[in-house]
Amino acid sequence: MSGSGGRCGLVALISGRGSNLQALLDAAAQGKLNADIRAVISNCPGAYGLERARRAGVSAITVDHKAFSARGCFEAALRQCIDRFCPDLIVLAGFMRILQQSFVACYAGKMLNIHPSLLPKYRGLHTHERVLAAGERVHGASVHFVTPDLDAGPVIVQARVPVLPNDDPETLAARVLAQEHRIYPLAVRWYAEGRIRLVGDAVFFDNQPMTAPRFVDTYENDTIL
Ligand code: GRF
Repeated sequence: MSGSGGRCGLVALISGRGSNLQALLDAAAQGKLNADIRAVISNCPGAYGLERARRAGVSAITVDHKAFSARGCFEAALRQCIDRFCPDLIVLAGFMRILQQSFVACYAGKMLNIHPSLLPKYRGLHTHERVLAAGERVHGASVHFVTPDLDAGPVIVQARVPVLPNDDPETLAARVLAQEHRIYPLAVRWYAEGRIRLVGDAVFFDNQPMTAPRFVDTYENDTIL
């Protein structure tokens, strides 16, 4: 899937440690992504993910939101930076800035996000703490298309994990993160292969509208298989 007829080109936006980015870089290096990661852009100058990109030989760029007086100016600069790489797909990989409707509209159907919960449950921050406080027995991660409402775009794929009796936010986050690292490269590969696309509000998978997200978890009857 590529606007230019070649391989799918991808730009990743990050803010921090970039472990999901690493999963994508690794999948790309192993030929499992069917996409080229053309650039990694961070809004935080010290983000460790930038170092991961450099080590993989990928352009690592900072567009520091603090250097701009208004959100719109930051997003205009970010767009300019993204568009230099003519990406077919933009992946948000721990990108911690809320994006305005005008920005999202520029990349409608071309932007994915990974979120550490089983959407539509637990949109927003501190998902693991909230899941524990609510006494949930199942938690997980979701990859979804980005739409103007935060964490509310159509979900493509999810992975579930059990919440165990002695979990704290860190142990639970680690269990979820391991699944994030599986499902994000998978969703990107599906996109790169032209298997998923957003049509209106619906995700089409192999030309069929999806009625529910795919589950690719290793979870069944309260145990990780
Ligand atoms: C992940 O939990 C992701 O789901 C969320 O932000 C976190 C980023 O972690 N959107 P990393 O930077 O990929 O390690």
